[in-house]
Amino acid sequence: KRHLLGSRTRRAKEPPLVKGWPYFGVILDYGKNPLAFLQAMRQKHGDIFTCQLAGKHFTFVTDPFSFSAVMRQGKNLDFHKFAMGFSQRVFGHCDFTSSLYTEAYREVHSLFIQTLQGPSLQRLSQNMLGNLQTAFQHCKPSGNGWKEDGLQCFTTRIMFEAGFVTLFGKQAGLLQPEGTGSVGHKVKEDFLEFDGAFPALAAGIPIALCRRAWRAREALAKKLLHGELHHRMCISDLIQRRMDAFDRMHLNETEKARTNVCMLWASQANTLPAAFWSLYYTLRTPEAFAAAYKEVELIMAQLPNDTPISLSKEQLESMTVLESIIREALRLSSASIMIRLASDDFILTMDSGQEAAIRKGDYIALYPRLIHLDPDIYPNPMEFMYNRFLDKNGERRSQFYKNGRQVKHYLVPFGSGASECPGRFFAMNEIKLFLMVVLWHYDLQLNEPQGTLSPDRTRAGLGILPPSQDVLLQYRIRADRYME
Ligand code: HEM
Repeated sequence: KRHLLGSRTRRAKEPPLVKGWPYFGVILDYGKNPLAFLQAMRQKHGDIFTCQLAGKHFTFVTDPFSFSAVMRQGKNLDFHKFAMGFSQRVFGHCDFTSSLYTEAYREVHSLFIQTLQGPSLQRLSQNMLGNLQTAFQHCKPSGNGWKEDGLQCFTTRIMFEAGFVTLFGKQAGLLQPEGTGSVGHKVKEDFLEFDGAFPALAAGIPIALCRRAWRAREALAKKLLHGELHHRMCISDLIQRRMDAFDRMHLNETEKARTNVCMLWASQANTLPAAFWSLYYTLRTPEAFAAAYKEVELIMAQLPNDTPISLSKEQLESMTVLESIIREALRLSSASIMIRLASDDFILTMDSGQEAAIRKGDYIALYPRLIHLDPDIYPNPMEFMYNRFLDKNGERRSQFYKNGRQVKHYLVPFGSGASECPGRFFAMNEIKLFLMVVLWHYDLQLNEPQGTLSPDRTRAGLGILPPSQDVLLQYRIRADRYME
């Protein structure tokens, strides 16, 4: 009770305590602008401090050199309890941490690596490339005139359709294309409606109170029932093998479908804004555009003239300029938060040697945006520099320094340790392929008002921030390109 009223007092060796209002703590200041709030707290309290946020205590570790110290605490810091609790509340599936399912769920979890990485990755990426070309066909302007659209609408339409079909397969005998037909359009709209409620859901509002989001989620689940998916062709190994595993677990059909909604969200929610920013910065930065186009031209010159295009793993990996553009776009737009639950009282030893006592039941939080925008690591951190992740020879650059010391976790949009995104290689490939196809086939012009577009901060903590508004895009098929 004393805890709930906010009367916790700092014990010996505990990090500085930022209390704020009874119960609410500093949630309002934090929510308004997490980055500015955490920067100010770091200035005042140093590399580690505990904040009360809506009745819970979060200890923020802000020093990049202490990231590994947190990651090493797998025994005392639990990732799955927090993530699964949130997932269960938002997606409405059952509690996979209960002893009834732990063993079977471990098998489901191990499928991520088996089906999203290694040899499966090349197959998945190749399918994505084929589906991207089909999605572009569906929204191709007629003739050679200019067409107008929002850049975000354009990116979302193509990436959602191609990503959805790559994972969940094509509808057999579909007359209407997936993205433009009523079925595909409805799925995308439901996804965006559901995704739009995430800031509220993350703030603890029950989904039952977000009626439209709830309805959208249930509509998506209906579309992703195993019975429906059995009628689709070319389902990815990831979804097929999850379906088989969940069938063996004897869950009911709605529960199983809701885990598919969960996969749909994981595969799209960050990829869509990441693809947006990658194309946005490429189009508004002439040097980035020139370097990217040159790289795409070089690859296309190696390919036979016929379509659909297909790329080898080596060709995909050789596109280091596109990769640097995407990594730089991720650096500027990523605002995910990594949260662990302390399953016991323990001492966290920071990189500096400072010892911090952590209480059982508290959360440890890392906010990589503090690193991504650190001027000591990245000079002029707010500026987009397309070649920031390239060395002098145009090779991938992976050495970054703070105060002369190499930083291991300098770019963590995909999380790290137990919560590292298993789809990260596929995500990078998807966006690379999207940029390649769009730059090759279209003339594109942004029609942007003065100033730089800002990210939508209401989604801080949830992953890649989308833009606060859309930007007008004019595009037409390049005179010398044929997509058929
Ligand atoms: C988890 C980022 C794309 C599948 C995560 C997490 C992050 C992340 C930060 C950890 C979440 C946490 O700490 O709770 C991203 C970004 C992406 C992206 C920035 C795109 C730019 C994808 C794609 C897929 C995917 C394309 C699959 C096709 C997953 C899955 C998890 C996950 C399944 C949960 C893993 C687990 O429970 O252990 N992602 N992701 N992600 N991501 Fe991604």
